[in-house]
Amino acid sequence: MHPLLPFSVLLSIFDHVHAVRIPFQVRTLVENSWTSVDRLGRRAPTNNIPIKNIHNAQYVSNITIGDQQVALMLDTGSSDMWVSFPKTTPQTTDTGTEITLRYAVGKAQGHIRTAPVTIGNFTIDNQAFLMVTDTTTFSGDIHAQGYDGLIGFGPNDGSVIQDKLKGDAGDTLLTNIFQQNQTQQNYITMLLDRKGDPREAFTGQMTISELVPTFENITTMPKLDVKMLLKLIDSDQHWQAVTDSDNGVIGPDGSVLKMKSLVPKAPKGKFVAVIDSGFTFRSVPRDISDAIYGRVRGAVYDTENEYWTVPCGQYLSLSFRFGGVEYPVHPMDIVNDDFAITDKMGNRVCIGAFQPITSAFSLLGNYDMILGMSFLRNAYTLLDYGNWVKNTQDDVDPYIQMLPLTSTALAKADFIQMRLGGTDSTGEDKWSLLPQDQMQHSPVSEEEKKKKYQEAVLSQWPYILLGCLALVLLVTGCIVWHCCCRKRKAKAKAAKAAKGGFGEGEGKPSSYLPLQDQGSQVSLHSPYGAGGHGFPGR
Ligand SMILES: *[C@@H]1O[C@H](CO)[C@@H](O)[C@H](O)[C@H]1NC(C)=O
Ligand SMILES: *[C@@H]1O[C@H](CO)[C@@H](O)[C@H](O)[C@H]1NC(C)=O
Ligand SMILES: *[C@@H]1O[C@H](CO)[C@@H](O)[C@H](O)[C@H]1NC(C)=O
Ligand SMILES: *[C@@H]1O[C@H](CO)[C@@H](O)[C@H](O)[C@H]1NC(C)=O
Repeated sequence: MHPLLPFSVLLSIFDHVHAVRIPFQVRTLVENSWTSVDRLGRRAPTNNIPIKNIHNAQYVSNITIGDQQVALMLDTGSSDMWVSFPKTTPQTTDTGTEITLRYAVGKAQGHIRTAPVTIGNFTIDNQAFLMVTDTTTFSGDIHAQGYDGLIGFGPNDGSVIQDKLKGDAGDTLLTNIFQQNQTQQNYITMLLDRKGDPREAFTGQMTISELVPTFENITTMPKLDVKMLLKLIDSDQHWQAVTDSDNGVIGPDGSVLKMKSLVPKAPKGKFVAVIDSGFTFRSVPRDISDAIYGRVRGAVYDTENEYWTVPCGQYLSLSFRFGGVEYPVHPMDIVNDDFAITDKMGNRVCIGAFQPITSAFSLLGNYDMILGMSFLRNAYTLLDYGNWVKNTQDDVDPYIQMLPLTSTALAKADFIQMRLGGTDSTGEDKWSLLPQDQMQHSPVSEEEKKKKYQEAVLSQWPYILLGCLALVLLVTGCIVWHCCCRKRKAKAKAAKAAKGGFGEGEGKPSSYLPLQDQGSQVSLHSPYGAGGHGFPGR
């Protein structure tokens, strides 16, 4: 039942930050950049929602609930809204329904309440949300970390709140907004800015049913179908797309990174990618992560944090292809310098943002990779909910459109300026990649081995079920046959000892008992329920 809750991964990064005590300042980009937008003579959007970038690690927007303004993390990977009010609690209506959303670092638990909610200039009078009163299970003070809760932009069907309340009372905020104006198209767009980028001229912003001015040509980009893959249950539906065939990921030396998809139904040669603004880093298959960082001189795999660390000056290139369009990733997003990590010698090192998928493992084999905020900084993104929203005229199948924002050549120049002191030393030997056969491989964690095994079992469940049925039939057949024999023998015996009359064989044969237990079903379902779709902790 748990939706995709990437929040856990985000927070574990934050824990790390706090552990090494990096004083990072939160700058409100929005204020600064409004002026720069004006200077560039750009038309101000009519109804845009500013997004604050906290240290390239979380993106939050102001939302008003009751009379309180709160900062909520924007998460396209889940569908629920929860808030822990930092100061006074506004007037809300208790629905009496209690729910728990579980995270690796704590749980968001409380009653579902309703209140007037405003985002941008859209207001919903009776919006359901989870009010969390106790945040002690979270590691660290979430308010001090810059947010008061989270708002999920996933499909309505993936919302736990929607599931718990009767009728449409628990619909998500976006569903309610889209239904307010039924002639409008049901989409949002997100433009995420990058801190430390000397070139970027825009500010982080989100729009609902309108486009960010000057980026209107996003509508000419290919529409990526999000529903094409088989899903078992509604909460498995995410904002996801398949990469192009055979060249979906292009690695550091321009070579295509090949690997078989984890998703049983994925079209041949393609990967399934979830677009998830709640993830600080991206998670990709281990082989891909190794292919990106394993050939860097001085790369070290951190088994505790489960990421590669590499020298900060390492220039790497990487791009993804969707719908025939290439989306280059900025080198500053590939080798992340936002967390002041040091190696054992105390030297500054950077994090390989393409972490191998481990704790965030796709248990049911629904996707291969999670493209988080560091990918989304490279693509202006439009999510069209289409017919996921009932009772509106927008009846198309949901899709994603992305406009590339990063130019490989300009990004390289910026990298040289920011990381290499302005001199292009990228050609020096120390930055050259090791040959393929000297590539390092990261070790597979125990947790991942277990998950892989579970996934192998689960992805085969139709066959296992068939096998079990066959076995049941076979065993039943044997027993019936055995009974008949016994009955026949008993009858013969009874006939023989006509005078004795002890009716052996007339009671329930004890051999039925194990079959009634149906052990096979239990073992099929328990990992399914326990593993769920949330991400278990580390
Ligand atoms: C939001 O504000 C803009 C400009 O102030 C206005 O054009 C637009 O109609 C408003 N939208 C709603 C839903 O009120
Ligand atoms: C949210 O509101 C506060 C206080 O009004 C303001 O300082 C901050 O810049 C706003 N943040 C965003 C992302 O709009
Ligand atoms: C609904 O959306 C349409 C299309 O964007 C717009 O023309 C119309 O004014 C909107 N209606 C209201 C009541 O905001
Ligand atoms: C879309 O518009 C932006 C801004 O004007 C421009 O930089 C970009 O090249 C355009 N992209 C396409 C694919 O037309």
